Amino acid sequence: MLGRLLELAGIEAVIIERRSPDYVLGRIRAGVLEQGSVELMDRAGLGERLHREGLDHNGIELSFDGDTHRLDFTALIGRHVTVYGQTEVTRDLMAAREQSGATTIYDAEDVAISGFDTDHPVVTYRKDGQVHTVECDFVAGCDGFHGVCRASIPPDAMRTFERIYPFGWLGVLVDQPPVAPELIYAHHERGFALCSMRSPSRSRYYVQVQSDEAVSNWSDDRFWDELRARLDPATAQRLRTGPSLEKSIAPLRSFVTEPLRFGTLFLAGDAAHIVPPTGAKGLNLAMSDVAALAETLETYYRDRSISVLDTYSPRVLSRIWKAERFSWWMTSLLHVFPENGDFGRRIQRAEFDYLVGSLAAQQSLAENYTGLL
Ligand code: PHB
Repeated sequence: MLGRLLELAGIEAVIIERRSPDYVLGRIRAGVLEQGSVELMDRAGLGERLHREGLDHNGIELSFDGDTHRLDFTALIGRHVTVYGQTEVTRDLMAAREQSGATTIYDAEDVAISGFDTDHPVVTYRKDGQVHTVECDFVAGCDGFHGVCRASIPPDAMRTFERIYPFGWLGVLVDQPPVAPELIYAHHERGFALCSMRSPSRSRYYVQVQSDEAVSNWSDDRFWDELRARLDPATAQRLRTGPSLEKSIAPLRSFVTEPLRFGTLFLAGDAAHIVPPTGAKGLNLAMSDVAALAETLETYYRDRSISVLDTYSPRVLSRIWKAERFSWWMTSLLHVFPENGDFGRRIQRAEFDYLVGSLAAQQSLAENYTGLL
């Protein structure tokens, strides 16, 4: 998205990607777009398929030990979200880049960055056995949590804040219609479960598992039994199962690094921060980071204003911490934390009951979930 926004602003950018196009397009990622992310796709001139195939969701359902409550975002605050796979967003962006002829290097090995404490940063990479060098004005580190950009910053030049949760999400993708028209977030004494979707005929389901759990321990049958056990009985009965198209475990983590600019290097997306997926914020935060970064760079090139470069980090960090708080809160409400015992579960139940009884609390959840941060 950053590449696209810069291209539209007439700023030349090269994307250097460690993986192949097929690998990138084969990964199952997030599925919920805030209005701001949809608007950004529109601004990028890529909203056509999204508006045609994306599913507008006006609310979500919460379930606690089988008691359900629907949150109607549209009635509460007049906003909604759109279900459209991150993989489809990526596909649209890659197609646009292919068409415009902008440069993307795939299968780049040994990517390294240097000189970002000067005005002449350099990126090197190896491809087909040959080393290449890119000289540039700026490096945007959009290379994920395990990427080289954040890892290249001297540790004493940054502060990191982290919480690792003692569980992960086991996810299954299946070619069956979703169990319900909207997403269901369920707390159950056996653990959290989420019913999501990618299209009217393709569903995505998750169950909380211990972080040291192995996918190989989970046959499809075991997954479906566990999911059913965590849903309210009526929903469990409606569930349509089938062979999994994809099955994987994702660890849950909250992480922020500060600041997000070091000289001529900027961090964005998962390179800068991780949220647990419970608030559906990861993709949307990355989108708002790069919208801000593109604007910052546009202003820099238009006005030759060095000082505008200082605004990026504080500007995006305030939104990032709001999303961190919301994602942490959703995670805390909906998962089972064995170390918190029975007292912890009663407090979670009280929190759920408070939410169900409080218009203000529901509006707050709706604002955060839909991205009115
Ligand atoms: C998904 O569909 O993959 C999904 C949806 C909502 C979340 C997390 C993941 O909060």
